Amino acid sequence: MSRLQEIIACPVCYKPTVEIPVQCEACLNYFSQEVEKMPSLIMDLTPSAVLGAVEQETANTKPLRTELFRSPIIPFLYERILPPIWAVGLRNLGGIDTEFRLVTDFFGQSGTIIADISCGTGIMARRLALSRRYKHIIALDYSELMLAQLQQKMKIDGISPSQITIIRADVEALPLASNSIDAIYTGAAMHCWKDALEGIRNIYRVLLPGGKLFATTFLKPFPNIVFRFFSVSELEDIMLASGFKKDNVRVEARGLYATIWCIK
Ligand SMILES: C[S@@+](CC[C@H](N)C(=O)[O-])C[C@H]1O[C@@H](n2cnc3c(N)ncnc32)[C@H](O)[C@@H]1O
Repeated sequence: MSRLQEIIACPVCYKPTVEIPVQCEACLNYFSQEVEKMPSLIMDLTPSAVLGAVEQETANTKPLRTELFRSPIIPFLYERILPPIWAVGLRNLGGIDTEFRLVTDFFGQSGTIIADISCGTGIMARRLALSRRYKHIIALDYSELMLAQLQQKMKIDGISPSQITIIRADVEALPLASNSIDAIYTGAAMHCWKDALEGIRNIYRVLLPGGKLFATTFLKPFPNIVFRFFSVSELEDIMLASGFKKDNVRVEARGLYATIWCIK
């Protein structure tokens, strides 16, 4: 049995692939078919896809800050426009390359499985895969079009589907088994989620004891017009309310950008 079969789980009952037949009959058909798409196709493991219920989708309507990334224009423009803007300091001086160094310093260099949650076009997931420091990357995002960009860019970068598993997923109902992931990266994402506390609670649930979370997001006084920005103390409160212990949480602000290090 592969480690991925123990990790990828139904987003309704949180049981991994190997336990589905007895634990989750309601979603057995869809879930098991979808998992067969591995490694080359994108799986849709959002709760509404698994339940096949349009009413559920309506009940869980996402705000504009989430839905924006499902429109064709944002995924197309994302990496074509933003990286140079980030690099001049909006997202750490040096942008995504600086963030990559911070992430790999924190995660260390071992045979771990990393999840990039809200991976978008996979700007970090691809770097992590190309570094060949980690055994496998699981890239998850709510936007099917951001994930389609990731797939295209993997081909250009020469990254094989066996290096990155791509899953459409909702951070508030992660299709990952509890206590299963060594390390999680979620970059520039919390301000786009409907409910950041529920997202981090899910992340805490799926991390192994001792597992690491590296997160970044933007801060107030950016106004909450579309996105929902935080103060440093709000971010600390979210991490503590999700289960992380005070001594294992560090939040640092650089300009309007926050970097968060947590250990479960
Ligand atoms: C600003 S982008 C960040 C992308 C990438 N992590 C980066 O560092 O550039 C935010 C991403 O969060 C995703 N997102 C928003 N709400 C989500 C949710 N509920 N579950 C999973 N991903 C979500 C969006 O689809 C989008 O790709």
